[in-house]
Amino acid sequence: VQDGSLIPRFGRARRDPALAVLEGFHPLKHALRFRANVLEAVSAEPRELERLGALLAPDLSAELRTLVRAVDPAVFLQLAPLAPSCKVMALAERAHVDPATVLADPSPAPLVVLEDPRDLGNMGACVRVAAAAGIAGVFTTGSHDPWHPDALRGAAGLHYSLPVGRLESLELLAASERPIVALDPAGDPLEPAALPERAVLAFGTERYGLSRELTARADARLSIPMSPGVSSLNLATSVAAVLFAWRLAPRAAAQTA
Ligand SMILES: C[S@@+](CC[C@H](N)C(=O)[O-])C[C@H]1O[C@@H](n2cnc3c(N)ncnc32)[C@H](O)[C@@H]1O
Repeated sequence: VQDGSLIPRFGRARRDPALAVLEGFHPLKHALRFRANVLEAVSAEPRELERLGALLAPDLSAELRTLVRAVDPAVFLQLAPLAPSCKVMALAERAHVDPATVLADPSPAPLVVLEDPRDLGNMGACVRVAAAAGIAGVFTTGSHDPWHPDALRGAAGLHYSLPVGRLESLELLAASERPIVALDPAGDPLEPAALPERAVLAFGTERYGLSRELTARADARLSIPMSPGVSSLNLATSVAAVLFAWRLAPRAAAQTA
């Protein structure tokens, strides 16, 4: 394949809902580790990539060497609006996610719903912490694509380690019969050990919080305690606090083993 065809191909992939653009070493590393179908990978500095692979992902060094091909640095710079400094990018198929199937999962782990998140880096950080905490999945509502390259970058590619997708209708939550817990700075104080099994943990949009519609559907409205004068936590920070409160709660050991 000629280098010249790479630029339009990476450009089209950014708008293709079946594809993921992986910008940087960590997104590619996690995609490979969690068995994504990586279609192609390119680097403007193959030697540096080899060094990073040996240092940070020795389990993937051989695969990286076979998969990644060298490209002209001038071409590489045009493959993304802000080409990653570690000079590797890849295209992969997205993981297929069916919200109804994920909602029906009987395991006790909670699910995260982000209502209309506006910041793609925040979205990615939520996916990353959900992957680390052993959460059943992350769903978003609203216009922003949870598989946008910036969200994948913020998640270090961990979209491949748990189900991540859009939730087209809140009706699906009602149909699942999972308890809905609304996280809201004005709610009752959170007691981690009392979080119900299979909860849907719902977090609101950055500026306005949860919608009335979602709050009305919630079985509980809980808050993370904060010092006086602090209005709220950043979205991803609040997701991290709640997920690790759940994971570290006394009864969490059996659930997350
Ligand atoms: C930046 S906050 C939104 C702030 C918004 N003005 C409000 O009052 O909800 C984004 C989301 O993070 C969660 N959040 C932030 N701080 C929280 C806290 N102390 N307790 C519970 N949830 C919190 C909520 O889900 C909130 O909708």
